[in-house]
Amino acid sequence: MARVRVGTFSELADGRLHSLTAGGTAVIVGQVGEALHAARNRCPHLGLSLTTGPGGPRFSEGEVQCPWHNSRFDLCTGENRDWTPGFAGRNMPRWSRRLIALGRKPAPLTTYRVEVEGEDVFVHL
Ligand code: FES
Repeated sequence: MARVRVGTFSELADGRLHSLTAGGTAVIVGQVGEALHAARNRCPHLGLSLTTGPGGPRFSEGEVQCPWHNSRFDLCTGENRDWTPGFAGRNMPRWSRRLIALGRKPAPLTTYRVEVEGEDVFVHL
């Protein structure tokens, strides 16, 4: 396990979802309540970016929505809350979810422990 400095608390605790590279790993960091949380920037559906895609990045109240097929995840726990309900930010008819899923079963995000020391923020990969 590696502990990697990813920035300062004041840079990262602004309510936006930040995309960064830590030790060669693509990571997202976002503020939920008073704390920062981090996860791998790779959707467990098809392995695509959670911050770059046709639906654009979406992050609200601790929830990340994939910009590709709209799967939603809890950034704190990685829990999957909805699996492939649409495309590019638009929801599709319920019957089409299995087609969009391409046979992939719901899976959680890989989350990382975040540590704050003074102003410095570290992620444990
Ligand atoms: S790649 Fe994220 S939901 Fe399909």
